[in-house]
Amino acid sequence: MLSLLMQNMFAQQNKAILPIPYPPSDNQTKVNLGKILFKENLFSKNNTLSCNSCHMLNKGGDDNIPKYVGLDKKIGLINTPTILNASLNFRQFWDGRVKTLAAVIEDHLHDPTIFANNWETIINRINSDPKLYQAYQSAYNHAMSSTEIKEALTLYINTLLTPDSPFDRFLQGDKSALSEEAKKGFELFKSYGCITCHQGPGIGGNLYQKFGIYKDYFATKKTINKADFGLYNVTGKPEDKYVFVVPSLRNVALTAPYLHDGSAATLEEVIQLMGIYQVGQPIQKFDVPYIVKFLQSLTGKLPNE
Ligand code: HEC
Ligand code: HEC
Repeated sequence: MLSLLMQNMFAQQNKAILPIPYPPSDNQTKVNLGKILFKENLFSKNNTLSCNSCHMLNKGGDDNIPKYVGLDKKIGLINTPTILNASLNFRQFWDGRVKTLAAVIEDHLHDPTIFANNWETIINRINSDPKLYQAYQSAYNHAMSSTEIKEALTLYINTLLTPDSPFDRFLQGDKSALSEEAKKGFELFKSYGCITCHQGPGIGGNLYQKFGIYKDYFATKKTINKADFGLYNVTGKPEDKYVFVVPSLRNVALTAPYLHDGSAATLEEVIQLMGIYQVGQPIQKFDVPYIVKFLQSLTGKLPNE
């Protein structure tokens, strides 16, 4: 029997890099409700955090710090991934423990370090806030339950796509959309084999891979915590230790610091780490700036806030 990891690798490998689609424009009133809820502090137990506290839409969809600051300002164990294009990922969270956005919301809601809350409280808060109640009524003409709240947020997150990056315009035939440096960077991205893991429309987000294939990344870390174990936390299988969903590289220029532990401050640094741990060959110093230019060309049109 092939392990889950191997099955996934074979099933998913070599998906073509395609442009990011345009956001869907249906379900407007539900999307609007989701958009309002995204920025409300109502999810956290003590009304201090909204989705946007950590997934800041004007900061690339994340928080730009190594590890998230959760409830009561406690520092979490892992880096916040971007919400932009998250709906394209084949699984959610670094360890891929859930598949749907609704399940992400459920996980976050009960997570004692994030919202530490329950649906009853949230439904009461929405019902007793005239603005939120009104938005709910416009979207749904029946009583509120957690299902509708998760649906509205999901539909909104589905619209948080970033089409029209220079790279996508290049893919669609506009050869002048990319600088010569970025084009060379794309060639290097292919020739170094980055594309075997970072692929599909998200340029990542469609398969699992171990971090530390050619060298043990965790051997040099001072402390290892549960979040470093990745997929192992889901399956309990030794071979799934340090296995993560390969992150999407869309808008990656906006989302430093990098990696699940937020340990790499710059693109230059993470490119070198990828060479050592994932490619098995150091990335030549003079190649790095070209790859940076390519990665910068993956910044698309950000959603209207
Ligand atoms: C306190 C910070 C914080 C808040 C508030 C927060 N998130 Fe997150 N979010 C995270 C972190 C950290 C992760 C990654 C956790 C992991 O991988 O174990 C994450 C992961 C996600 C993901 C998965 C992305 C991916 O690429 O795997 C989605 C989607 C998401 N959050 C949506 C939301 C929504 C919707 C809300 C509001 C209901 C929200 N988040 C509120 C910190 C936060
Ligand atoms: C064997 C699979 C594999 C290959 C090959 C690979 N990567 Fe990665 N990449 C990953 C994984 C897995 C992570 C997440 C590791 C972690 O956070 O612990 C990652 C993370 C990254 C990140 C950080 C993204 C973020 O949001 O934190 C960047 C940037 C990146 N890779 C670029 C590259 C480049 C450039 C190359 C080629 C030089 C490359 N990768 C080759 C699997 C791979």
